[in-house]
Amino acid sequence: MDSSDRRTFIKSVTGAALVAAADLSAAGSSSVAASGSPVFLSTWKHGQPANERAAEVFRNGGSLLDAVEKGINVPENDPNVTSVGYGGLPNAEGEVELDAAIMDGTRHRAGAVCSLHSIKNPISVARLVLEKTRHTTLAGGGAFRFALEMGFQPEQLLTPQSLEAWLKWKATPNRPSFWLTAENHDTIGMVATDGRGHMVSGCSTSGLAWKLPGRVGDSPLVGCGVYADDNAGAASATGDGDLMTNYCTSVSIVHSMARGASPQEACEELLRHMAQTDPRNRQGDQICVIAMNPRGEIGAASMNAQFKLTYALWRDGESRLLEAPALY
Ligand code: GLY
Repeated sequence: MDSSDRRTFIKSVTGAALVAAADLSAAGSSSVAASGSPVFLSTWKHGQPANERAAEVFRNGGSLLDAVEKGINVPENDPNVTSVGYGGLPNAEGEVELDAAIMDGTRHRAGAVCSLHSIKNPISVARLVLEKTRHTTLAGGGAFRFALEMGFQPEQLLTPQSLEAWLKWKATPNRPSFWLTAENHDTIGMVATDGRGHMVSGCSTSGLAWKLPGRVGDSPLVGCGVYADDNAGAASATGDGDLMTNYCTSVSIVHSMARGASPQEACEELLRHMAQTDPRNRQGDQICVIAMNPRGEIGAASMNAQFKLTYALWRDGESRLLEAPALY
């Protein structure tokens, strides 16, 4: 290469690098204008009081992390929500095992707990894993001992209703079990922005009813049940966590938004990918996702019309329940 060729080559490489850098910052930075006001988006009907509590905490000066944590505490404390926290249906041995995670999109750090027993607010324990330790995930007995050290009180998480449901399942001949089949999964997933480009994602669940002891679904796994990145957005998921874990749903959606997809496009792209890789995912399986970008634009989608996601949206002081479109 002579010197003029070398100069041309260096110029073109430098130019390409500059173009690539510009592309990256356009796709992946908060050049995405923020909405100016907070938005809270949660899965299912029980997401509505959760959003309302989150908005109240935020309005009263709490951080976005405080808001998401305290919002998720609402269904965790509600004995009538049988897939989250207190009153969540137990595992096959009759013990309630809870999973939760919360992710801060600014620090790009999460805290999570899996298979936590006797503590009804796993999202708050997950928050303390994030704030007080260098770890991301604590499981089982270790998560329980950490919770005690943080001042949480152990409680019986079975309600008379959930105990009765378990006894009934146990007494059913040829009952469905997780060696073969699955039932009852919904979860609370929440994604939120403060209106200034900060994103948080949180998720809490008792997992599948009658699950094998020790089973961990998607909810507490960073990238699966939660993901948040201030540069691109936040996502969460609900449904069959065993299946969805294999697709790293939340991080896939956030990365699609980083490449320029709207939250709705990103949700649908992920579900289409799942349907294309395995057509069995189209029917029968319970797969729903939610997403938000730093502008406060939202997305929500269900794989199929047999398991349609009702989601809760809080924006500009208005709290609504809406139905996500189903792809199949
Ligand atoms: N999506 C909740 C679970 O499967 O555990």
